Amino acid sequence: MLSRRLNNVTPSFTIGISNKVSELKSKGIEVVNLSIGEPDFNVPDKAKNEAIKAINNNKTKYAMVSGIKELKNAIVEKLKNENNVHYDIDEIVVSNGAKHSITNTLIAILNPQDEVLIPKPYWVSYPEMIRLVDATPIFIDTDKNNNFKITPEQIQKNITAKTKMIFITNPSNPTGAIYTKEELKSIVDICLKNNIYILADEIYEKICYKDNFTSIASLSPEAKNITITINGFSKSAAMTGLRLGYSASNKSIAKAISTIQGHLVSHPSTISQWAGYGSLKYCKEDINNMVKIYKQKRDLAISILSKIKDLDFIYPQGAFYIFIDISKLKSKINYKNSFSIEFCNKLLENNKVAAVPGIAFGMDDFIRISYACSEENIIKGLNEIKNFIETL
Ligand SMILES: Cc1ncc(COP(=O)(O)O)c(C=O)c1O
Repeated sequence: MLSRRLNNVTPSFTIGISNKVSELKSKGIEVVNLSIGEPDFNVPDKAKNEAIKAINNNKTKYAMVSGIKELKNAIVEKLKNENNVHYDIDEIVVSNGAKHSITNTLIAILNPQDEVLIPKPYWVSYPEMIRLVDATPIFIDTDKNNNFKITPEQIQKNITAKTKMIFITNPSNPTGAIYTKEELKSIVDICLKNNIYILADEIYEKICYKDNFTSIASLSPEAKNITITINGFSKSAAMTGLRLGYSASNKSIAKAISTIQGHLVSHPSTISQWAGYGSLKYCKEDINNMVKIYKQKRDLAISILSKIKDLDFIYPQGAFYIFIDISKLKSKINYKNSFSIEFCNKLLENNKVAAVPGIAFGMDDFIRISYACSEENIIKGLNEIKNFIETL
């Protein structure tokens, strides 16, 4: 008998798609994969070199649970210089990816039945992470006309005596929308008034196409005190496989996170931590170049998508996704349970393009594509989507 915790947990939709793509590929069928949320760059050389040096210098022993001090100092420096927020070194905990930083935070803060507000659309793993600690995700509908950004009024309507935390993903996966400073201030105000923690998932912070990113914790000392900032190296430094992320929070939360991590995993691989150190210290230019390329790809994808009849989308200001509204095609697809799953299955079967069904993000009238792939695949994939729609 498995734990009852798993009763409400659904396997990842994105993994389901990856499996289907692998199956087709194993049969020798070529697929344009627009479903993966992974940079198509390699780890920058100067970051790799720090990891290689660490191996050669035998920096391979157990280290501090919350992360090696060189990396934590580099994170403190980064948060001060780039985000204008002052953290002490003991407010930073380095973990095995942002996913792990989020899970540690939830274990540290939530009790069973606590409610966590999640604006829709949301990143796939949030609801299941919350359910796995026996807390309750509360989904909040947002407005397409506001690029699906949550407003204080929408938050207010969903607050109960059990509300403990809200997730804010900025820039957003799946929409690429970015909150303005004023919007964030109004969210902080309502959270302060109601004693609600903010889990600020800022993992796409570097991938912004306008200079308009504000870190929530930088808004005021009060904002900093209720915010757990989550960030990592998977997206900004193309280190998905190295599994490295971090949280920045007030001292008592950071201490709790560190205690939890100490018992469960000790600390992330020292080698990955040195790569992370290298990326913060020496790879700013490489990262800026990656962002320039993402922007060109975003513009290319948008220029093709805009010409496809019956599709609409949220104009992305950051991250590397486009959230596409397919609702006009609803009457043209026969489906039982989920329109977006059926749409994506047919798109994959008939035209060999993989996209993620919007239901994975809580919105069944949408699909998400990633443009973190080659220009050739963007052009081919979107043209195939156009062909697919024309045959419906
Ligand atoms: C919004 C968001 N948060 C967190 C993560 C997890 O990142 P990591 O690879 O650092 O665990 C992802 C990865 O797709 C993401 O999109």
